[in-house]
Amino acid sequence: MKSLLFVPADSERKLAKAESCGADALAIDLEDAVLPDRKPLARQMLATYAKGYRGKSQLWVRVNDLASGELLKDLAAVVPLAPVGIVLPKVTGPEDLDIVGYYLDMAEVAAGLPQGQTKLLTVCTETASAVLRMGDLLGTARPRLIGMLWGGEDLSTSLGAGDPRHPDGRWRSMYEHARNQCLLGCHALGIEAIDTVYVDFRNPEGCRASSLEARYDGFTGKAAIHPDQVPVINTAFTPTEDEIAHARRVIAAFSSGAGAVSLDGKMLDIPHLKSARQMLHSAGLEQE
Ligand code: COA
Ligand code: MG
Repeated sequence: MKSLLFVPADSERKLAKAESCGADALAIDLEDAVLPDRKPLARQMLATYAKGYRGKSQLWVRVNDLASGELLKDLAAVVPLAPVGIVLPKVTGPEDLDIVGYYLDMAEVAAGLPQGQTKLLTVCTETASAVLRMGDLLGTARPRLIGMLWGGEDLSTSLGAGDPRHPDGRWRSMYEHARNQCLLGCHALGIEAIDTVYVDFRNPEGCRASSLEARYDGFTGKAAIHPDQVPVINTAFTPTEDEIAHARRVIAAFSSGAGAVSLDGKMLDIPHLKSARQMLHSAGLEQE
């Protein structure tokens, strides 16, 4: 999943626009983009939308968090619509995933759907506890959990802190830490790692730089808040012709059977070969 576009569920125009925006996935939002008194309306609008949806992007729904008092109402409304999955915000630790997993089991049975069908993406850095307990996710199989994304704004709010960024746009160290925890957690679990949103949505160059940095660091995709960000993110997460050509040259350099070789005056060993193969794989190309 390269691009995941957030779409407020209570906006007919945004829902309409989202259908053909080219995102790999839509996260129709029932949480922070919807005011409390509009949640019932947002659930109704989501239901109408999902029933008539003909778009190619996967349909996901961001539900409210476990402590909100809204989650059960969300799940009762959302699960029968059979979205690909739900995005669960503000988790505090692995038990939240297990509790929501049981709720999903029940809602799926009630809706006559196969148990386990609804997948989970979690926003895994919005509370101090979640960041500190990232490692506790390891060692227990949770087949619903196919990816995690990180967020800085809610973490900052939960810490009583100010803007999570320096004036020049760089993340402050706490949020770099949370980002790294998310990245390590996702790779340790072998699931998708989704970078947080780039909020300056009228700045495509900034979004491009942020997306390229995320891919370079090992994220597999990035969240978007505006349709204009979707093509920028999709392109940034697609290997370029030059990168593919270089990966092919690296693979060719190992054809002699040696474990360490030289290319353009630089030493290459097995990690370089693996990275080159991963690059071709992520571009949907066969290895030699
Ligand atoms: N999904 C789908 N369509 C969107 C969209 C989104 N996230 N954001 C904007 N659009 C649509 C608008 O409706 C408009 O189409 P229209 O003219 O047919 O109505 C078009 O794209 C251009 O929008 P624009 O005028 O540039 O932006 P805006 O001022 O209407 O909205 C935001 C700006 C930030 C409020 C809006 O992008 C948004 O709501 N983003 C998502 C917020 C969110 O979900 N936050 C929670 C997750 S972090
Ligand atoms: Mg939020």
